[in-house]
Amino acid sequence: MSDPALFTPTRIGALELENRIVIAPMCQYSAEDGCLTDWHVMHYGQLAMSGAGLLIFEAAAVAPEGRISWADAGLYDDATETAMARVVEAVRQWSTMPLALQLAHAGRKASCAQPWKGGQQLPGDDPRSWQTVAPSALPFAADDRPPLALDAEGLKRLVGDFAEAARRAARLGFDAVELHAAHGYLLHQFLSRCRTPATIAMAAVWKTACACRLKCSAPCALRFRQTAP
Ligand SMILES: Cc1cc2nc3c(=O)[nH]c(=O)nc-3n(C[C@H](O)[C@H](O)[C@H](O)COP(=O)(O)O)c2cc1C
Repeated sequence: MSDPALFTPTRIGALELENRIVIAPMCQYSAEDGCLTDWHVMHYGQLAMSGAGLLIFEAAAVAPEGRISWADAGLYDDATETAMARVVEAVRQWSTMPLALQLAHAGRKASCAQPWKGGQQLPGDDPRSWQTVAPSALPFAADDRPPLALDAEGLKRLVGDFAEAARRAARLGFDAVELHAAHGYLLHQFLSRCRTPATIAMAAVWKTACACRLKCSAPCALRFRQTAP
């Protein structure tokens, strides 16, 4: 019987993997001000000893307001980069497993409680909450605070945030980065048709969102490629 394909080498672009087992990014909701902690040294340390072909670090927000919760990981300033460097260096002492990082922005689904605290958006008077941003002012849940609709300046800043985070990831020695454009988070919000407009007023919002979709997702991917080494 031939070997199962799972245990045979493969490639993702220039990245060679010893086998096809990829550890998916898993938010730990255990960061402090966006900074990874000792928890992450332990968590990624043990996963890096597993023999998988690739280990993807959890969604790291490219801006503080892009975190799903106040306890999310980030890669948006020198403090978050230094904290992540500590984890990567600890893992690298013992493992040669390729490491990737997922870059993310939660958009209108940001500013929430951790899943085990219910995962709902925090009320505006909670000191751990913040104003969310999105393609339009449509909230995710009916009783969420409406997000701030990104304007041209906001979009430009967002693209810059993704590019800057990619530069930081490269500096940290990650072998790859993954853009999170699923699960209803910001890049997915630009692409989604779930929010089909029901009224003429909503149609105007939708038109703006579609324009943003072209303006945002494409340049993000492009700038991202230009940034990657
Ligand atoms: C605790 C936990 C954290 C997760 N964090 C992320 C994440 O950071 N990024 C992501 O894209 N998906 C995340 N996911 C989703 C998983 O990567 C995966 O898509 C999901 O669990 C479905 O795959 P499965 O059927 O193999 O479990 C998370 C899932 C769990 C259970």
